[in-house]
Amino acid sequence: MDNLEHLVTEAIAEFAKATEPARLEEAKSRFLGKDGSLTALLKGLGKLPGEERKAAGSQINTAKGQIEAALAARRDELRQAQLDAQLAAEALDVTLPGRAQSRGALHPVTRTLERIEQLFRSIGFDVADGPEIETDWHNFTALNTPEKHPARSMHDTFYLQDETGKVQEDVLLRTHTSPVQIRYMQAHVDKHRHLPTMPEIRVIAPGRVYRVDSDATHSPMFHQVEGLWVGENVSFADLKGVVADFLRRFFESDDLKVRFRPSFFPFTEPSAEIDVAFMSGALEGRWLEIAGCGMVHPNVLRFGGIDPEKYTGFAFGMGPDRLTMLRYGINDLRLFFEGDLRFLAQFQ
Ligand code: PHE
Repeated sequence: MDNLEHLVTEAIAEFAKATEPARLEEAKSRFLGKDGSLTALLKGLGKLPGEERKAAGSQINTAKGQIEAALAARRDELRQAQLDAQLAAEALDVTLPGRAQSRGALHPVTRTLERIEQLFRSIGFDVADGPEIETDWHNFTALNTPEKHPARSMHDTFYLQDETGKVQEDVLLRTHTSPVQIRYMQAHVDKHRHLPTMPEIRVIAPGRVYRVDSDATHSPMFHQVEGLWVGENVSFADLKGVVADFLRRFFESDDLKVRFRPSFFPFTEPSAEIDVAFMSGALEGRWLEIAGCGMVHPNVLRFGGIDPEKYTGFAFGMGPDRLTMLRYGINDLRLFFEGDLRFLAQFQ
């Protein structure tokens, strides 16, 4: 049966030529399919006489087995080739350096605010906040600020508009945290109305404030921390002690010089600016202004609902952005608010 051997060789060659599974299955049907060459031979068996039929049948079956084996082998080859191609296409270079997950960190000013809160809490201060959109009354009037004061002008303060675009004269972005003094005093008085004497007020109020101002040392949005201590016999000496002690602890330096320079604020009397000077480092000997302060003006206590004949108090408003600049040696305030990771990542 030369014929059969030839058929097997032919089938193997055809299978080898098929380089894709679909082509292979086509080739298969040409030999093993319903109308395939081998099937035709099998069908022809019936016409052969008994003895011959048996011999021919077994030869055809052997050939069929060989073709089927060749088909299976070729199928495996193609599958393997496909897998190899896929693996090559999707290859991972395991020697590439990994892309590490970078960790976020607190903003340097946030770190300063948390540090300030922690230090003041340790000497019994409460921490409060107030709205950034404030009324003219809380921001100015109740803080004893005269009608014609420059801070009330549109050059200095962001006023809000109503839906028609008209400027609302009594709603603004707070220009300082001092209105929290008023809000806190009123709430405190209200809360302790049933008591014969009012417990002392000791509170700080950190937060964002807004002014029409922008250069290397001024940003239209910046931070303040208000401080207020009201009680019987609270004096300027208490103010000096609390602030100087706080600053030494904040900067972790006993050699820090703290100076109170006479100044003016409508809501304190007497008033002072607080300057600090370092006794070593790049800023050695230079006085830097970091806060305003003073004894709470009697009118302000009255607006807060407190009797100025019975109680006195001091207040201060300091700039945590400035404190952060000094602590870390940063020379441009705007760096804090530009969101540049090359800057911020240095504080991780
Ligand atoms: N509110 C003042 C300012 O923004 C600072 C200050 C607060 C001064 C409290 C005295 C008392 O400049």
